[in-house]
Amino acid sequence: MLVLGLESSCDETAAAVVEDGTRVLADVVASQNEVHAPYGGVVPELASRAHVVNVIPVLRGALDQAGVSLDKIDAVAVTCGPGLVGALLVALETAKALAWVRGLPLVGVHHLEGHLSAVYLDGDPPPLPHLALIVSGGHTSLVRVDGHGDVVELGATRDDAAGEAFDKGAKLLGLGYPGGAVVDRLAKDGDPHAIEFPRAMVSRDTGDAFSFSGLKTSLLHHVRSHGVPEGKALADVCASYQHAIVEVLVRKTRRAARRLAIEHVQICGGVAANSGLRAAMRAAGEEDGFRVYVPPPARCTDNAAMIASAGYWHLAAGERAGLDLNARASWPLPGRRA
Ligand code: KG4
Ligand code: ZN
Repeated sequence: MLVLGLESSCDETAAAVVEDGTRVLADVVASQNEVHAPYGGVVPELASRAHVVNVIPVLRGALDQAGVSLDKIDAVAVTCGPGLVGALLVALETAKALAWVRGLPLVGVHHLEGHLSAVYLDGDPPPLPHLALIVSGGHTSLVRVDGHGDVVELGATRDDAAGEAFDKGAKLLGLGYPGGAVVDRLAKDGDPHAIEFPRAMVSRDTGDAFSFSGLKTSLLHHVRSHGVPEGKALADVCASYQHAIVEVLVRKTRRAARRLAIEHVQICGGVAANSGLRAAMRAAGEEDGFRVYVPPPARCTDNAAMIASAGYWHLAAGERAGLDLNARASWPLPGRRA
């Protein structure tokens, strides 16, 4: 089954063609970083307008890359939440129009279920059940994945997401938006123990929940008393700040893996592209005896191949959305709570 995936939940317009939920024939992403960079964050109105401009070229690009025409597409999968409503509506309406005129089955996908599915693309996917750490710009959750679209959320952030902590930290350091990848790059030349930033909610009684807002405040105090660092001092701040985020993420994940006796762990979402997190989780896995699965960096950040994959499992189970499918700004990850 060839599924066309479409995604426009935040600041990436993306289209992809994926065969049977696993083999990627095309994966095209148009980023809006340049549109939002001057504002230090995503401006919803500008995001919607840029999606309107980009959606058809991206869709055409994906069909060209796959070497197929619309006649060969069997179904359409589209992100319908959570995200910026004005942004979501662009891919959603495009998907509905295509499904209607071509008479194709349509399915709406939860964005985080998309992130969870990236690991099934072109690789060696983890067996079920497994543990998943979802770390993106808007979400940080630890979930047990029992099946496609069948998850149990163990814990989530009480305030900022891990990606938000990276972005807000980067903004305080004058590194532009989005800052996660810049902090990652600068951290490589710094000392992760130079500054002791706080690790919030690491005691056992906080369970699988996370908190990152205090870390950002601590960086703010550091910048106020020492000024905005440059050169080696900047690298040290980036390395120490990144280390504080990574250490909490890894510590909580390995604790849950041990408690649930799970030997397979995936990390997904934009922050899973972080080289420090990837290395630290792999090292923890080697010590504790769990295997770590992580998509290549370009499949950690937003893309439509992951949406096509997630949609495929719903379509294969017979699920179909009507043409009244709507966007949802907030939408808890479908599944059970722990
Ligand atoms: O999954 P994603 O593309 O969009 C959302 O669903 O939110 O995640 C974007 C987030 C941003 O906060 C960005 O700074 C972060 O992922 N990110 C990184 C890296 N690459 C992207 N954070 C740390 N290190 C990276 N290499
Ligand atoms: Zn995302």
